[in-house]
Amino acid sequence: MLEGKVAIVTGAGRGIGREHALALAEAGAKVVVNDLGGSLSGEGSDAAPAEAVANEIREGGGEASANYENVADFAGAERLVRQAIDDFGRLDILVNNAGILRDRMLVNMTEDEWDAVVAVHLKGHFAPTRHAAAHWRERAKAGENVRGRVINTSSPSGVFGNVGQANYGAAKAGIAGFTLIAAQELQRYGVTVNCLAPNARTRMTEETFDLGARGQGWDPLDPENVSSVVVALCADEAQKITGQVFHVWGGAVNALRGWSSGELFEAPEGWDADALLDALLERFPEGVAPPGMVAGMQAAGGRSLRATQ
Ligand SMILES: NC(=O)c1ccc[n+]([C@@H]2O[C@H](COP(=O)([O-])OP(=O)(O)OC[C@H]3O[C@@H](n4cnc5c(N)ncnc54)[C@H](O)[C@@H]3O)[C@@H](O)[C@H]2O)c1
Repeated sequence: MLEGKVAIVTGAGRGIGREHALALAEAGAKVVVNDLGGSLSGEGSDAAPAEAVANEIREGGGEASANYENVADFAGAERLVRQAIDDFGRLDILVNNAGILRDRMLVNMTEDEWDAVVAVHLKGHFAPTRHAAAHWRERAKAGENVRGRVINTSSPSGVFGNVGQANYGAAKAGIAGFTLIAAQELQRYGVTVNCLAPNARTRMTEETFDLGARGQGWDPLDPENVSSVVVALCADEAQKITGQVFHVWGGAVNALRGWSSGELFEAPEGWDADALLDALLERFPEGVAPPGMVAGMQAAGGRSLRATQ
């Protein structure tokens, strides 16, 4: 399906990103396997995870090179995009997937916990996309019929909201918003931009939730379930599907509708505060509050990450 294409997958040394890299290679793409190789909280670095996945692809007969840049480093992200072009002559697919966690209740969250998580996720999406976009614009301006792909990674925490993840969820909601704008801006160059809100059994969820033991047979939380969505969106035939956020839980893939029109309160000549308060209390006699992440996931066709629930 993706013969001749060149892909970058960030954070591809482990977990969901590793499966994306293997699936893209299996579909025929040449892959730059990026991973900084740090801990779940983003400390340290290690070349081994990216190297191992690049080797795995090569041993399976595919083409791959390893890259160890920090995606939140603007110049490092430029070197990453340059590596794809130097090693394989072009770039067609960018999967922004790298991520870390530093969960804490808001009242106790430190400045570092906020800054590190927002940097890796939000800037770590902006920086590679920015440099890839410049490459695609150059090719489009030279008259090429570009079919570029960006796949971003949000989270149920970002689109539904999860207690204890103000830093992570805010960055992930930002990534969903970034997807909408990048999709609109890059359409003119032939680039689609979509986003995943995945659920999978990885070190991130195993260290954070009690996932329970893996059951017999097909595992809905196997990270490879998420990669089918990536490969499908990267096909040339998906050229007109852009700006979407897909919640993925096993076989349930849901094109979410976020921030759609909701409850309209309209006063033809503007509201005064007393009248608006009366209207709010009348519309919400029992009050109103977000339902939370698990309720959102269930409404979207998934289940709790505790697979048995
Ligand atoms: N596992 C889930 O259920 C789940 C749910 C929602 C969202 N996500 C998102 O999916 C993505 C992948 O997560 P995962 O569960 O596979 O976690 P993971 O920890 O297994 O893999 C993340 C990888 O990203 C790499 N990485 C971290 N910071 C980096 C940086 N600055 N530059 C380059 N590489 C870096 C890590 O070394 C690691 O190998 C993340 O963005 C995560 O937030 C996962």
